[in-house]
Amino acid sequence: MQQHLLPTVPLGRGGRLIGAQGLGCMGMSEFYGPTDTAEALATLDAALEAGVTLFDTADIYGSGANEELIGPFVRANRDRVVLATKFAIERRAEDPRYRAVRNDPEYIRSAVDASLKRLGVDEIDLYYMHRRDPAVPLAESVGAMAELVQAGKVRELGLSEVTGAELREAYAVHPIAALQSEWSVFSRDVERTAVPAAAELGVTFVPYSPLGRGFLTGSFAAAETLSEGDYRRYHPQFSGANAAANAALVEPIRAIAAERGLTPAQVALAWVHQRAAVHGLTVVPIPGTRKRTRLAENTAAATVELTGAELALLEPISGQVTGDRYADMSSTSAARE
Ligand SMILES: NC(=O)c1ccc[n+]([C@@H]2O[C@H](COP(=O)([O-])OP(=O)(O)OC[C@H]3O[C@@H](n4cnc5c(N)ncnc54)[C@H](OP(=O)(O)O)[C@@H]3O)[C@@H](O)[C@H]2O)c1
Repeated sequence: MQQHLLPTVPLGRGGRLIGAQGLGCMGMSEFYGPTDTAEALATLDAALEAGVTLFDTADIYGSGANEELIGPFVRANRDRVVLATKFAIERRAEDPRYRAVRNDPEYIRSAVDASLKRLGVDEIDLYYMHRRDPAVPLAESVGAMAELVQAGKVRELGLSEVTGAELREAYAVHPIAALQSEWSVFSRDVERTAVPAAAELGVTFVPYSPLGRGFLTGSFAAAETLSEGDYRRYHPQFSGANAAANAALVEPIRAIAAERGLTPAQVALAWVHQRAAVHGLTVVPIPGTRKRTRLAENTAAATVELTGAELALLEPISGQVTGDRYADMSSTSAARE
């Protein structure tokens, strides 16, 4: 019988039980510098053994390469893996910098077939709309996604970077199992409308970048120290004067970790779990890692309890962060609130 080391929580209202922490697979193919593929694949196996069930990818990660990378692992463990992928950000091979947000039904229908093919599966467990194009009525997009459920191509629906009002509007068209948006000690704008709406509707919240893309762990303190091609080199919070100011804000995380015999990553993850409890919300953070040692460290954080005094030390941090969480904020939920 499968042994769960991680506690389990429901995916969506009354949904199936999944490990209370998932694994972000994005960095295994793109964005965060060079990857050791063998170690990344070993990390997938280690995650499953640790009780992780939710594995997160998207069609744009590595322009499909990330779906192809995890496909064999998913197929080998099909009944134990909850496979999440996403559509909506169009890329073009001939222009690496091209990005367009696509929410139209025709695009959705072709994107799901392409993802299924790359993954080599018949059904995606959780299919997210990655970004919202306000020019397309939400009912049209979610309606097209609901048809994918009826066709047996998708089991559950999810949204990413939508506001509370948009989540409610979508839910009225079809139940939404999960909302995936950025949420961490540094980035808390989702607590304004998205988090309360998810709590009210029984939508599971899937915080992405819960480690602040690694910055909260202290593994880097400035964009310039990262390798060429690492997308974080252009991140406003890690560049120029912002980097030094924001690195100082990580100090309380480090101090709590040192005092408690934890790592900064564990403190950052424990904060997300406990902050969700304050809102009466089910969360499944998806820290991204390509290394087994970090996977073990991150998994252990799901059961760490921070004290009231420790939470109070972390509380003011997000209000002091300088720089936006994206160089271009126009596609974030915060831009539409
Ligand atoms: N919906 C969206 O728009 C969206 C946007 C961004 C990300 N995501 C998803 O969310 C997942 C997680 O977000 P993320 O990868 O951006 O950021 P994250 O989880 O906050 O941080 C990942 C970074 O932290 C490092 N790391 C992980 N565990 C660590 C530890 N214990 N100690 C020190 N460093 C550690 C990783 O490096 P190593 O890999 O070298 O360990 C990686 O560089 C992604 O993989 C992706 O699936 C979704």
